[in-house]
Amino acid sequence: MEEFIYGGDYNPDQWLDEPQVLEDDIRMMKKAHINEVSLGIFSWALLEPEEGRFEFDWLADIIHKLYENGIYTILATPSGARPRWLAKKYPEVLRTYEDGKKAKFGGRHNHCLTSPAYREKVRIIDAKLAECFKDDPAVIGWHISNEFSGECYCSHCQDEFRKFLKRKFGSIEKLNHEWWTTFWSHTYTSFDEIEPPSSIGENETNGLIIDWRRFATYACTDFIKNEIEAIRSAGAKQPVTTNMMYEFGGYDYAEFAKVIDTMSWDSYPEWGIAESDGKAALEHGLYHDMMRSFKDKPFLLMESCPSGTNWQSVSRLKRPGLLKLAGIHAVSHGADSVQYFQIRQGRGSSEKFHGAVIDHTGRDDTRVFKEVTETGALLKEIAEIKGAVGDAKVAIINDTQNKWALENSQGPRNCNEGYYETVHKIYEALKINAVDVDVIEESHSFDGYKILIAPMLYSLHDGAEKRIREFVENGGILISTYLCGVVNENDLCYMGDIPYDMTDVLGVRTEEIDALCDGMKNSLLPVEGASMRLQETDCEKMCELISLKGAECLMTYGSDFYKGSPALTVNQFGKGKAYYIASEPDREFYVGFLGRIIKEAGVVKLMESLPEECDIASRVKGGKRYVFIENFGREDKEVKLPEVADMLYGDTSSKLPATDAKIYSIKA
Ligand code: GAL
Repeated sequence: MEEFIYGGDYNPDQWLDEPQVLEDDIRMMKKAHINEVSLGIFSWALLEPEEGRFEFDWLADIIHKLYENGIYTILATPSGARPRWLAKKYPEVLRTYEDGKKAKFGGRHNHCLTSPAYREKVRIIDAKLAECFKDDPAVIGWHISNEFSGECYCSHCQDEFRKFLKRKFGSIEKLNHEWWTTFWSHTYTSFDEIEPPSSIGENETNGLIIDWRRFATYACTDFIKNEIEAIRSAGAKQPVTTNMMYEFGGYDYAEFAKVIDTMSWDSYPEWGIAESDGKAALEHGLYHDMMRSFKDKPFLLMESCPSGTNWQSVSRLKRPGLLKLAGIHAVSHGADSVQYFQIRQGRGSSEKFHGAVIDHTGRDDTRVFKEVTETGALLKEIAEIKGAVGDAKVAIINDTQNKWALENSQGPRNCNEGYYETVHKIYEALKINAVDVDVIEESHSFDGYKILIAPMLYSLHDGAEKRIREFVENGGILISTYLCGVVNENDLCYMGDIPYDMTDVLGVRTEEIDALCDGMKNSLLPVEGASMRLQETDCEKMCELISLKGAECLMTYGSDFYKGSPALTVNQFGKGKAYYIASEPDREFYVGFLGRIIKEAGVVKLMESLPEECDIASRVKGGKRYVFIENFGREDKEVKLPEVADMLYGDTSSKLPATDAKIYSIKA
């Protein structure tokens, strides 16, 4: 499709006895410029009402009626929720919880991911669907299941976990060593003895906890692969995706990225609930960037809410303009679609009050419908941007496995290690400096970046330390913070000097780590005559005591018994430089510090500096850079546009109205 995909989850299966509804919906969708629907996500009971009896005619009929009206389908596999007959006949498909309790039928997203019976039943229906729709021009993609989540603790999953560990470690001795099980006499004598982490069993061994999460990721990725193979072996060639969630952390999405064609995710910011809409936008901007960075390709915004989100603590309405602005925001960070949950509001059950394009009134003159229509019209106007990619020169590592390791590190701060907060704070400071940012995992390539920021890179995996070394050696600028290179991927501490294998790159060695209680502060003071003069700042959370191994000290601690000792350093290494920040300075410090580094690295800013509550991002295509500026605040802002900007949306004046945006292109 040349245009942006515009549409969302549509559940006409809930209205099969009212054919007029489909007619009305098609008329209204066309009016709103909707060109896509995601169909069949939870339709298994209708598609296979009893085992082996498939009824796809109703679906084909709907797909073709939509197509005749210019609306394409992204067809789901129905594995997100199963029909009652399936659970009854094959109870092993139901999940077993951590406490050993077996789930009853009900809910969704709660099947056993390794169950051979479930996989087989899913494979059969997926293949049947693919046989039916593989050559159908109306079907432009496959939506595998829905928002995978969670783990199952049944005996089959446990067996699979043991096999997974055996493949990983090879021998029980190696596992015992890596998990450090001599501690408390927890040594295993065979793989058969291993159980998943449990609140009434083994719950302290971080290696086990992290590997259980890796296993859950593996089991889910393998489940996805099983679905993709079913579709592909039936001859379907359309691209596949699965819709992910934000700050979910249950699985390592980098593994999903390896098996699906397009990343997609469901974005539900807490508009009107979070501290400010600017903050909510910033947070979701980071997730958009993350989704784009996984594959360095445009992603799909698979779901977003047109109005109040009924599962949030309160269902705030989107104030006028916000619906369009949120769509522009996703596109600005690399989305090639704007999709909603849901096109039509259901009449009953738990999502009847969830925002929808078409609400219970069935009218096309509601405030929400009008905004959906305006947004659709805008997306058509800016269709040339579709397919444009990011070309960020700055990347921040936000690594899922590192997060897992930190969550159960048991010290230095158990109240809150604050990985998430630190990553978000640095990201915010980068955005205030108006640069594009890739948000990457440790395993992502570092090539092509000028600045690499590695906050709290506690756990190293995928040879990150070697690739960081090469990055700096070849001229990159690294900014690393405290808690760097402490443990390996199994949470086993590195012996000797840390940051592991990077003391020469950073020119420092960590000696001790002082954790501060919430509210406690120290400060960072600039060193007289240092090559870079920085602003004094407060710091909190953790203060690492470091000694210099060749680095220049730029700042020292202002108080406590380590007053005067190094706290922020820089080291020349190869053609590049490596900064080390031994504590947690505040956001304003990061804004100034990163501003200096951005300048030094010659990274082009999209604007001198970004007003509060605003976001800026760009995408490039065909020699053009498309720049998007959005104002999520309640007041107009002043922005300075380049003189040569070709406006695609908004005017050339310096006024950026509240809850509005400007989109323009410049030469890339
Ligand atoms: C998503 C889910 C959808 C719907 C939506 C409501 O998490 O994928 O099926 O439940 O939330 O916001």
